[in-house]
Amino acid sequence: MIFDELAPSRANRLINHGPVVLISCRDGDRTNIMTAAWAMPASHTPPMLAVAIGPSRFTHDLIINSNEFVVNVPGADLLDAVWYCGTKHGHELDKFAECNLSAQNGKEVAAPLIGEAIGAIECRLSSHPTAGDHTIMVGEVVAAWAKAELFETRLLVEKSAAQTLHHLGGPHFCRPGAVLAKK
Ligand SMILES: Cc1cc2nc3c(=O)[nH]c(=O)nc-3n(C[C@H](O)[C@H](O)[C@H](O)COP(=O)(O)O)c2cc1C
Repeated sequence: MIFDELAPSRANRLINHGPVVLISCRDGDRTNIMTAAWAMPASHTPPMLAVAIGPSRFTHDLIINSNEFVVNVPGADLLDAVWYCGTKHGHELDKFAECNLSAQNGKEVAAPLIGEAIGAIECRLSSHPTAGDHTIMVGEVVAAWAKAELFETRLLVEKSAAQTLHHLGGPHFCRPGAVLAKK
């Protein structure tokens, strides 16, 4: 065999490193933020995305109760907040305050946007099928935002402030390398 065999449970680590996102949500007066590496675009028309969220997450209940969430894209400067929001249960914590993140009003959803992020995507929950031990939160994109200096027709990852974080597993992350353009 020309490959080494990986445990099926390790397969995600080959495709894990899309940008890490911070999922923000609100149910009534409770807000929360959770880190997620398992996020992907899912439809062009209508625009939709999907995030896999474990049912034990406080975020899971807030999304199911409110039917909405925001996918925020942090820069590498937010690594400490990414780690904190990914290792603390938000039930008895205010992660916005603990991480010094500012909650911004969105346009279409009540869930707050994270002001320090590179960009933010407001989503309305469309469906939530179960996949093994996670729930796939499928969201229809109802509004999307990006910092003007960091996004033109694409994310300007060659600028340091637009360097996203990509989770390799455990405590390991990487940042984007050079931009390659197919001629
Ligand atoms: C880098 C990183 C990526 C993570 N990705 C996911 C993910 O995609 N889905 C998930 O359910 N949990 C993920 N987690 C774990 C949750 O973020 C973690 O359980 C968090 O404490 C949940 O917060 P909550 O209980 O306040 O919602 C990740 C954690 C880290 C550190």
